[in-house]
Amino acid sequence: MSFRTLPKVELHTHLEGCAPPEFIKGLAAEKKIDISKIFTADGGYAFRDFDHFLKVYEAACTTLQTPEDFRRLTLAVLEETAFHGVVYMETFVSPDFCGGGDLAAWKDYLAAMEDAAAEGQEKLGITLKGIVTGIRHFGPDACKPAARCAAETFGDFIVGYGMAGGEMVGRPGDYRYSFDMAREAGMPLTCHAGEWGGAAMVAETLRDLRVGRIGHGIGAITDPALIEEIAEKEIVLEVCPGSNVVLKAVKGWDNHPIAKLRDAGVKITVSTDDPPFFHTTMTDEYEMLHRTFGWDEDDFKALNKTAIAAAFCDDDTKTRIAKRLEPTP
Ligand code: HPA
Ligand code: ZN
Repeated sequence: MSFRTLPKVELHTHLEGCAPPEFIKGLAAEKKIDISKIFTADGGYAFRDFDHFLKVYEAACTTLQTPEDFRRLTLAVLEETAFHGVVYMETFVSPDFCGGGDLAAWKDYLAAMEDAAAEGQEKLGITLKGIVTGIRHFGPDACKPAARCAAETFGDFIVGYGMAGGEMVGRPGDYRYSFDMAREAGMPLTCHAGEWGGAAMVAETLRDLRVGRIGHGIGAITDPALIEEIAEKEIVLEVCPGSNVVLKAVKGWDNHPIAKLRDAGVKITVSTDDPPFFHTTMTDEYEMLHRTFGWDEDDFKALNKTAIAAAFCDDDTKTRIAKRLEPTP
């Protein structure tokens, strides 16, 4: 059976990382930018490991230069995501790639993305919300303008603040200023942790940045006391198994801790992260979870209920989306 048409909620995607390679190649050709070396012979993105992936990602982002580029990108991403049954999607957006952290420029880019989101809602029936992200390997000082952009534009479309990028750069506490700024503006928070940094990084992130969701978080698996704490505090993990397999954060699907974490009572959600980079889609993720752990439609419905409850959007949107997850009589 295919899980493609099952209505899904996806909380952890990076907008630029969802860009189909053909889309980026098209922009590169239009702007006469030579980034041919970031593509494989068969047209995918070429990278060796996580650090190289981040470099290739940033090279692809050099083609995205104007609000109009982001409007087109957002629409292309929504078309692909909606095709896989996603009815609600949260995506990380970075002021660093949208005007270099300048607030006025950021507002222009944001208007373009919101325009595309409205079109996606109307034509494709998919709801998109944005989470502003600081980029960890750009350093704590570069995250401050990103957090300011977040705090200044928190509202209907921008629903949260988070941090992505190189997880092993600095300690979580180095980024406290940005997270505090976003928290003081009333924003829900998430942070990548435990993709590479193990249980200690997850624990430190929870302690120092006080986030309600963790991007990945799979490193927690080695620490039973931490697992208990995460379950008890109802911290939600944005797990991206296909990404973890391709980037070798785990040895393979059979070794992925998602099922053990779920069975230990942790609130688990499933996302694609950067789908074309990792040759995945939400349909593929569900298919592999079905094959590897025997998860079926009821398990996926439960995941999606967890996900919409943990979404950063307003309650009216949650109620509307939750209705779409219920079986039609
Ligand atoms: N992980 C961390 N940072 C990122 C990613 C990712 O998968 N994609 C874009 N920035
Ligand atoms: Zn991610």
